[in-house]
Amino acid sequence: MKLTWQLDLPRGSNITQLINYELVNLLSGLLESVRLKKPLMPSSMLQVAEGLALPGAKHLPTTYTAPISTPTIPEVELSHGSIPIIDLEALHGPRRSNIVKQLGHACQHQGFFAVKNHGIPKRTVNGIFDTTREFFHLPVEERMKFHTPDPNSEIRLMTAYKDEVENLFIARESLKFHCHPVENYVNKWPTNPTSFRKKAAEYLTNVRRVELTLLDAISESLGLERDYIEKRLGGHYVSLNYYRACEQSDLVTTLGVRGHTDPTVITILLQDDVPGLQVLSEGKWMDVNPIPDTVVVHVGDLLQAISNYRYKSLLHQAVVNSDKERMSIASYCYPSSDAMIGPPKELIDNNNPAVYKDFTYGEFYKQMWKVITPTDKRLDSFKISAP
Ligand code: OGA
Ligand code: NI
Repeated sequence: MKLTWQLDLPRGSNITQLINYELVNLLSGLLESVRLKKPLMPSSMLQVAEGLALPGAKHLPTTYTAPISTPTIPEVELSHGSIPIIDLEALHGPRRSNIVKQLGHACQHQGFFAVKNHGIPKRTVNGIFDTTREFFHLPVEERMKFHTPDPNSEIRLMTAYKDEVENLFIARESLKFHCHPVENYVNKWPTNPTSFRKKAAEYLTNVRRVELTLLDAISESLGLERDYIEKRLGGHYVSLNYYRACEQSDLVTTLGVRGHTDPTVITILLQDDVPGLQVLSEGKWMDVNPIPDTVVVHVGDLLQAISNYRYKSLLHQAVVNSDKERMSIASYCYPSSDAMIGPPKELIDNNNPAVYKDFTYGEFYKQMWKVITPTDKRLDSFKISAP
């Protein structure tokens, strides 16, 4: 194994801290892979499927055939598209069918939307951000207790890293864990800070309610039974994302997260007030600046399959900010492992042939580890006709 060390870290980052951090990261990865008698996975590979894990799955993926290649975006300039805003409260009133139409339109044409009147109390939102900030301000040894190369671990810290192949510095640190139902997982979560479990449970219970309301409306927007997607749901996974303030360096491109689609049904992203999220819109990156009191919802790969390619998985990335730290809370929902993901018969006719064959979430999960890509190309082996 070749170990190299390069000091071309982003300007503005605390170099001593980053070096300590990466060394602990490297050592703990080595120790863990010896303990598990498993190959050491480069962290860039781990990022491929970081969006989800199958609870209870025992295998570690072993097939890594190619480095990740970040999708090439033809234009680097920014698009100035607008952000569709869906009023969640109105879904419970006489305007429901109108709101369902708006939601379907946003999923079909933009792949994302913001949600207002979601009913998550402000103190709950402040609570999850406060406890996330406190966690990421803890000493590195304390945070590293959650670091493991095992993607099936119920809780896992992912660190910033340098991707040597693409010369990218990925600045995000994130704590990812299973969280539904809360009582099955809460005793794995941090106890430092002391408020962590309570504040995380409060936010996650609220976000699950929003997720179910949205999935009912999304099923309806596709002309399916309201509970079509909900019936197929499995777990819920959350990523507390922390982006330290860090400047672009001349030597390496620095990103918060590289361009990717989420391997989920939908993702609900809560951003703090620091911009950073960008989505692909008409071939260009578009800033999705935070709108107070809203959450952002992304179409994930699995909704692309369930909708027979009517709704497209959203390509998105996060950029870093040179003088402010940034946090976001990404809630990922995914199906149970035996749930059929291939398109429902209601969406197939002579004009709309099935784009994907029937496959289960379990099969998708296995495939995801074989195809090293951070995009919806994970679905390609299930394709049976060109969309
Ligand atoms: C994610 C993600 C973007 C952000 O966690 O999957 O895309 O703005 N996050 O933090
Ligand atoms: Ni994402």
